[in-house]
Amino acid sequence: MVSYIDLSYRYIYFLINKKSIYLHLMESIPYDKRSGKIWFNGKTVDWLDANIHILNHGLHYASCVFEGERVYDGEIFKLEDHTERLFYSAKRMGISVPYTTEEINSACKNIVNIQKVMNGYVRPLIWRGSEMMAISAQKNKIHVAIATWEWGSYFDPKLKLNGIKLDISSWRKPAPNTIPWDTKAAGLYMINTLSKHAAEEKGFTDSLMLDHEGNIAEATGANIFFKDDIGELHTPIPDSFLDGITRREVIKIAKSKGVKVTERKIKPDEMKDFVGCFLTGTAAEVTPVSKISEYSFKVCDLITDLNKSYQSLVRKKTAA
Ligand SMILES: Cc1ncc(COP(=O)(O)O)c(C=O)c1O
Repeated sequence: MVSYIDLSYRYIYFLINKKSIYLHLMESIPYDKRSGKIWFNGKTVDWLDANIHILNHGLHYASCVFEGERVYDGEIFKLEDHTERLFYSAKRMGISVPYTTEEINSACKNIVNIQKVMNGYVRPLIWRGSEMMAISAQKNKIHVAIATWEWGSYFDPKLKLNGIKLDISSWRKPAPNTIPWDTKAAGLYMINTLSKHAAEEKGFTDSLMLDHEGNIAEATGANIFFKDDIGELHTPIPDSFLDGITRREVIKIAKSKGVKVTERKIKPDEMKDFVGCFLTGTAAEVTPVSKISEYSFKVCDLITDLNKSYQSLVRKKTAA
């Protein structure tokens, strides 16, 4: 089955060959109305047939984990690291994945090839099915799916250039002994969506979340860094939120340039002394921040430089 809107947009893309217009048009098609293929429990199925029943444990009780990966020039960046984190998230949720990491890696690569995604996103997903509909889900079958699509910038590229503006969320990250905090479990994103919506309603692009003790934690889908007035970087210790794969790469890049990076507890009122700020994440990549609540930051050369280095790392194949 095909979605005719999707096909028409592909035709427009073919006629005018303008990727940004194509991506913009695609954004207007709901994800469940697109066309192509999805890897679903070991089989490649039509996009419109990758469905589940509404009586599903993943949907009702958030027994679901996922990954977010980017494709650059046809290759998934850090695929093995993402798959490893996917399996770690599943394990922390008591989910035993019915595939090996190698099988998931090759399924991700295959679906990217089948979909002919050159620069896009990959979303592997694992969830508990429908055998039991109660808190206990001991007998539920484990399902796995992988979808992929062409995708551009997570934040509006114009905003990204000048730095995005963040609100400070009234929701805090849960204490580490209250939730499997170091995973990409769906349940963790409930407060992130609440925070993001509240920020958007006030005209901000995203929201800064504090941890349970009131220290700076992260944005709703990305880690955060600050630059001080002597050119050093400071970033919160990931002890109640995700230690992003991009975060770790950017720390490596910064250190290789001789920039000192300190991982420490950071209080919100310290933001008055920082001169620069940026977010890191698979979706966000390296995104400068120009404002957080009343605190302003410059898009410093160091941030632009880290962004360039990150872009050449992810596109190593074409840069070489
Ligand atoms: C809440 C949250 N924090 C941080 C990150 C950054 O992680 P990564 O760089 O591994 O994409 C993400 C994105 O996955 C996220 O969803």
